[in-house]
Amino acid sequence: MPYSVPKLTDFSPAALDSVVRELLSALEEESKAVHSENDWKLFRDRWMARKNGVLTQLNDLWLKVAPGLGKREVGQRVNELKTKVTEAVEKRRIKTISLALSDSLELHGSVSAKVIRGRLDITLPGIRRPIGAEHPVIKTMNEIIDVFRNLGYSVEEGPEIETDYYNFEALNFPPNHPARDTQDTLFIAGQESKPLRDRLLLRTHTSPVQIRTMQKMKPPVRVVCPGKVHRNDAPDATHSPIFHQVEGLAVDTNITFCDLKGTLDHAMKALFGSSVKTRFYPSFFPFTEPSADVQISCIFCDGKGTRDGAPCRNCKASGWIELLGCGMVDPNVYGFVDYDPKKVSGFAFGMGVERIAILKYGVDDIQLFFNGDVRFLEQFG
Ligand code: PHE
Repeated sequence: MPYSVPKLTDFSPAALDSVVRELLSALEEESKAVHSENDWKLFRDRWMARKNGVLTQLNDLWLKVAPGLGKREVGQRVNELKTKVTEAVEKRRIKTISLALSDSLELHGSVSAKVIRGRLDITLPGIRRPIGAEHPVIKTMNEIIDVFRNLGYSVEEGPEIETDYYNFEALNFPPNHPARDTQDTLFIAGQESKPLRDRLLLRTHTSPVQIRTMQKMKPPVRVVCPGKVHRNDAPDATHSPIFHQVEGLAVDTNITFCDLKGTLDHAMKALFGSSVKTRFYPSFFPFTEPSADVQISCIFCDGKGTRDGAPCRNCKASGWIELLGCGMVDPNVYGFVDYDPKKVSGFAFGMGVERIAILKYGVDDIQLFFNGDVRFLEQFG
């Protein structure tokens, strides 16, 4: 039998208490039976509709007929009931919405739980979080990658925790070779029982991805390998123990140093503007032969070495800025990946992303990239 509001004849407090109790238990019963939005609408109308809702009936059947003295007593109770009914209807509304939400989002986690417990009012306006900006290092990395993508290169990635084999040995750094000292890094502790080549370290450069790529693919290979690298360097305005590189590798038949020069000259012009010149300066890396450092004409003094009559500080008055390492892949390296050095040749290069970002955006301290100060970072949005 659905609840109906009784006509009041006895206005004693005890009688009033009893009808109030009855009404509240009916409210409780009926609210439990609400499971869908439609249920809820019926529930709301039954209790709160102006015309003939339970609350309206209370006015008519209880309040209006109460005798002069009992009116206050009845009025108080009716008011309390109004609050309770309104609360119950509202609570059910939130529950129904949250049930529908969790159904449709399959969201069974803490949000819907909070909504159900009434701790979270999901009808409040949300918290607006400012939209982030691409980090300048990632932005620069993507710009570099895009230059090479347009030349037909694809992207390869490798692990940041690398074995000694990939980081050094297969790149022609023999054990105890002094070239290893220039790339000191963190080694995972407690690996003394393992053979040297299997020991894990934080990679010091992205060059191990060259090896991983050549193990995976036969020539022709044209890849760029972006990623984070680690070195035992004390942080200062130009050094950071963590930084990023983009590696490049092209292996095919008849690849020459001319191809390397043309490719990097084009890349530097694409990154810094078409008036930039490049020069290749002899250098050494165990995995390339010959090796070179690439310098670009100073973008601050246009390669003149002086600016406003004073020596240019950015290029130490030389007119050139050193930017990256490169060379022809050393034939020894092909031995580690089963390529035939008589049939193929190739070049590789590696550039520091922060260094390029510093020059492109006129940043004067590499630490700014890592401090997480939004006032700096939002300028790149
Ligand atoms: N891996 C070298 C470095 O980090 C850079 C490099 C890459 C040099 C590829 C030559 C060829 O210093």
